Amino acid sequence: MKTAAKRRGKTPANFEEEYRSAFGEYTRSGGEAALGRAYELGRRAITEKKSFMEIAFMHHQAIYGMLAEAQGAAQHQELLKAAGDFLAEMLSPYEMAHRGVQDAIAALRHLNETLEEEIKRIAYAVHDEAGQLLVAVHLALADVARELPERHKEQMGRVEELLNQVEKQLRRYSHELRPTVLDDLGWIPAIRFLAEGVSKRANLPIHIKVAFAGRLPSTTEVALYRVVQEALTNAVKHAKAGNIWVRAWRDEFVLCCSIRDDGAGFDVRALQATGCRKGLGLIGMQERLSAIGGTVRIESHRGRGTELLIRLPLEDAYANSRGAR
Ligand SMILES: Nc1ncnc2c1ncn2[C@@H]1O[C@H](COP(=O)(O)OP(=O)(O)O)[C@@H](O)[C@H]1O
Ligand SMILES: [Mg+2]
Repeated sequence: MKTAAKRRGKTPANFEEEYRSAFGEYTRSGGEAALGRAYELGRRAITEKKSFMEIAFMHHQAIYGMLAEAQGAAQHQELLKAAGDFLAEMLSPYEMAHRGVQDAIAALRHLNETLEEEIKRIAYAVHDEAGQLLVAVHLALADVARELPERHKEQMGRVEELLNQVEKQLRRYSHELRPTVLDDLGWIPAIRFLAEGVSKRANLPIHIKVAFAGRLPSTTEVALYRVVQEALTNAVKHAKAGNIWVRAWRDEFVLCCSIRDDGAGFDVRALQATGCRKGLGLIGMQERLSAIGGTVRIESHRGRGTELLIRLPLEDAYANSRGAR
């Protein structure tokens, strides 16, 4: 009998038809070649983005059809065994892809940790080394000032004042880059500190409401801090918002955190669909969260602001934090 694919010449068979045909061939005559078709179908299913639910449904339907035709308990048994083998072979590319994703997540987590270490190093370098250089500049200026005639001393005072501002800003940036408060007191105080700085610089109110207490594992707190940091930066840079609201609360065993602005908004679908990824901020956010088992949903409408809703299941995180701290 000709297969569906052969009947159609070069046109690739509809997935379900091809599935039924390969499945039928395997249950009738078994063999490696038919199992090979199952494997290829599994790969095709991934490419065509078929979900597990769709495959399970299709498989179920195919078995039902065949069971109706099979006669006697022995044939039923044989059919069910063949169906199990066929499904396992077809799902093996999914298994491999899943392992690939797990490996990628582990690599991502490692990369984030390395990046965090680097950020820490830069933050300390800015704070300590630049701070010490500025102290040296202050001392040198004081030396020069002593030699200067009285009328130039006022100008020197202004230079000192500007240097003090540079020092203050550098200290602020280094703290925001990697706030010590993040390690000492946790992500919520760190976000308050960050929001205070952003709010002052952008001259924009940031309202924070938190109904969540307790510490989380350090990697989780760092990831949450980085995600909120990017969301605030976006709200200032792109949204031209009038207000930003940051809320954090618990919904049973899920930690929720929303960052909302009342700014310009944007077309989320268009951005994702066209692959027109201007920056790495939103992607980075999703990746950071997926590395700790969380998700982010973005809702935005032109002219009506943007909201990011982070959800992070807490059970594991809490269990780890109890053990770790
Ligand atoms: N809060 C926001 N309001 C308006 N537009 C936003 C907001 N957040 C993100 N966007 C849009 O999404 C794009 C991608 O953001 P992102 O991935 O953070 O990259 P980047 O900030 O480097 O451009 C931005 O260029 C902007 O067009
Ligand atoms: Mg950004």
